[in-house]
Amino acid sequence: MTAPTTEARLKAHVDRIEEEHPPVPLASVDYTVHDPALLRQRFGPVLDYLARVELEVDRNVLELTTMLPDASEIDRRFYAEVWQPQEIHHGLILDELQTRIGRPPASTDTTTISPKIRILGALAHLTPVHDIVRMLYYLTGMATERSAVLAYNRLHDGVIDLGENAVAATVVAPIRRQEPGHYAFYRLSATALDKQLRPWQRWLTGRLRRISFSPVGANDDAQLADFGGVLTSLGVIDELEQFVTEISRVENDLLWAGRQGLDVPRYVMDAMREAVQLHRARASIPPR
Ligand SMILES: [Fe+2]
Ligand SMILES: [Fe+2]
Repeated sequence: MTAPTTEARLKAHVDRIEEEHPPVPLASVDYTVHDPALLRQRFGPVLDYLARVELEVDRNVLELTTMLPDASEIDRRFYAEVWQPQEIHHGLILDELQTRIGRPPASTDTTTISPKIRILGALAHLTPVHDIVRMLYYLTGMATERSAVLAYNRLHDGVIDLGENAVAATVVAPIRRQEPGHYAFYRLSATALDKQLRPWQRWLTGRLRRISFSPVGANDDAQLADFGGVLTSLGVIDELEQFVTEISRVENDLLWAGRQGLDVPRYVMDAMREAVQLHRARASIPPR
C-alpha cells in the first residue's frame, strides 16, 4: 500500500520544514538602503505586489477552510502551523521595507471569500469533488511557490546590482530560502493524489483549472496588470516561455501528459501574456 508511505513522507517533510525554517525573525532584518529613491523606482511595485500576496495568505487560509471542509490533518497542519506563519513574516518584512523607502504599505484584502470559492466549498462536501478541489489547491500551490522562487531569485540579483546588499542578504535571501519547502509539499501531495484520481476526476480538474487559472495574487484586471508590471520589472517577459514551463511543469505532466506538442498548459501562457498586455496598455507602452 502506498498511502501510509506517502503520509509518512509528507509528515516528515512538514516536521522538517517547521523545524528548519521558523518564521524569519523580524528583528533579524537590516533595512539599510543606500539609495531609497532608486530602489523605489526599480522595484517599488514589485515589493508591493510581493508584500500583498504574502500578507493575503490570511485570506487564503480562510479560503482553504471553506474550500476543503474535510482537509486532512497534514494539510491543515501545513497551511495553518507552518506555511501561514512563514508567509506572514515574509509579508511583514517586505511591507516594512517598502514603507522605509517612502512607499505606502500594501493594500490587502485578508477577509473576502469569493463566490467561486464558496461554490467549490459547497460541492466539496461530496467526497469525489473534495479530491478534485484538493488537487486544484495543490496545483495552485505549486505554480504559486515556483513563481515566488523565480521572482525572489531575480529580485535578489536586482538588488545586488543596485548595491543594496543588506536588503539582498537580510530580506530577500532568507525569504527565498523558505519557498522551495512549500513547493515540495504541494508537489509531493499532488503526485500522490493524482494516483488516486479516476479519469473523470482528472478530466474535470483540468477543465476547472483551465477556466479558473490566474497568476498568484491577480484577482481582477488591475491586479493582473500589476502582475504584468512585476514580470516586466523582473525581466521575466524576456524569458516568458521558460518561466511558464518552470511554474507549470508538474501540472502539465499530471493533467495534460496525453496531449502532443504542448510543452506548457496554454491557459498559463495566455494568462501571463494578458498580464503583460494589460500592464503595457495601462502604462501606455506600445505592444511588443
Ligand atoms: Fe513567501
Ligand atoms: Fe511560499
